[in-house]
Amino acid sequence: MEDRRPKLVILYATQTGNALDAAERVAREAERRGCPVMLLSIDEYDVSSLPHEGTIIFVVSTTGQGDTPDSMKVFWKFLLQRNLSKHWLEGVCYAVFGLGDSGYQKYNFVSKKLDKRLSDLGAMAIVEKGLGDDQHPSGYEAALDPWMSSLWIMLNQINDKFFPQGPDFLIPDMKLIDQPKIHITYHSVDKVDSQSSPNSDLKWIEMQIERARSMSPGKFTHDKTTPNCFLKLIQNQQLTRAECGKDVRHFEFEIVSSTIEYKVGDILEVLPSQNQAAVDSFIQRCNLDPDAFITVSSSLVY
Ligand SMILES: Cc1cc2nc3c(=O)[nH]c(=O)nc-3n(C[C@H](O)[C@H](O)[C@H](O)COP(=O)(O)O)c2cc1C
Repeated sequence: MEDRRPKLVILYATQTGNALDAAERVAREAERRGCPVMLLSIDEYDVSSLPHEGTIIFVVSTTGQGDTPDSMKVFWKFLLQRNLSKHWLEGVCYAVFGLGDSGYQKYNFVSKKLDKRLSDLGAMAIVEKGLGDDQHPSGYEAALDPWMSSLWIMLNQINDKFFPQGPDFLIPDMKLIDQPKIHITYHSVDKVDSQSSPNSDLKWIEMQIERARSMSPGKFTHDKTTPNCFLKLIQNQQLTRAECGKDVRHFEFEIVSSTIEYKVGDILEVLPSQNQAAVDSFIQRCNLDPDAFITVSSSLVY
């Protein structure tokens, strides 16, 4: 039988993944309450369909200097068109959750301007916009939880078909555990599974691992007595305010040995190394093969 319950549409716009995590959390919590969801990146959504939505949820971050994530550019440009009337989104209910950092001048700019534009186009906010802040000791989650609580109550008020058993009823977690988000494949070096990892794939993985190993300072000192080149740290200046909780620094290096060549625009990668003893004991504790390759791939849930 066809499921006639309304689907909750959740659109996210992310630059570095946090808004996706937050949107997935909203989706999971809605599903736990028996509400089917459709979770999409904002660039997968046809913005001209907006007036046909009953209810739509946005989870968007701010990047650059108050800029939209790349995936939101087309959507935002469309929404800014002057010929859209102030009645264009009449009848549409929405909720916005923003992710930002109050250490930036244009704090949560994108969620604020999206909220304003949707309202100017006639849509109705069902809850006050939520503002997640990296500066909070619990991060954006601190604002997400209370925002979601209000969201469930209001969604239930505008359409009680979203939550057939009410917004407080939770399906036990077990029933929702479905496909894992990430799939890990173990490749034993001498017992290669030719089906899941064709030889060419494995060669590529081997090359990547060798590349990573050659850059690891832990390994370096075993193989050679001296590194290839030396850089001397001549400036180390903190750019963030002392009390802001983040430590962003400007470093300047002087080349001491002559072996390094670079052009303007080249990038210096600083690779933190792990404590080898801690890594070894972790591997032993988990009974893992230290020489095995693993590949991590995503398995799409939605
Ligand atoms: C390069 C960069 C620029 C940022 N600019 C802003 C900004 O202008 N305003 C703001 O509130 N937050 C800003 N942030 C903080 C992000 O919005 C915050 O870390 C958010 O959680 C990122 O979410 P995302 O991973 O979904 O993109 C910036 C973060 C980065 C890395």
